[in-house]
Amino acid sequence: MDCSSGCSHQLQQQQQQHIEYSVSYVYHSLYAYFSRDNVALPGFAAFFKAGSEEEREHAELLMDYQNTRGGRVRLSSIMMPEVEFNHIEKGDALYAMELALSLEKLNFTKLRQLHDVADAEGDAQMCDFVEGALLADQVKSVKQVAEFVSQLRRVGKGLGVYEFDRKLADLVAAGGVA
Ligand SMILES: [Fe+2]
Ligand SMILES: [Fe+2]
Repeated sequence: MDCSSGCSHQLQQQQQQHIEYSVSYVYHSLYAYFSRDNVALPGFAAFFKAGSEEEREHAELLMDYQNTRGGRVRLSSIMMPEVEFNHIEKGDALYAMELALSLEKLNFTKLRQLHDVADAEGDAQMCDFVEGALLADQVKSVKQVAEFVSQLRRVGKGLGVYEFDRKLADLVAAGGVA
């Protein structure tokens, strides 16, 4: 992304970095929500905490990459996330997981756009970075979160969510989240 070869890379990368930070911030807010005494779903809390950290790592990967290629990192303001996640019909668990799915899908679309920019400029090295460091895992995340949404639709709001939460806690503890 040497800026002498055009700055569209730089701009697109900054947008991607912004998306990763924004998603990280929403997940952190979800972590806080699920850790509340009147919500108390520790599996969901752990899942979103891990997710928040992972997205921040992605932002940092982009940061390091920009510096590797001689770009300049610019951070921008992040929007305040929601703080209430309960939905009258869906309940909080399904609502939160659907929100996560929409964010992961958006992220996937944006990564493909970032790849398109690199590809259009014949930047094989950047294509390789986006594919290897980001896109491969992004596909897994979308698949996993989509499965969680399907499962939560089956289990209903009460005991089902409690059971799901326990399984989710085990999965996170075992490092099994994408
Ligand atoms: Fe990410
Ligand atoms: Fe993600």
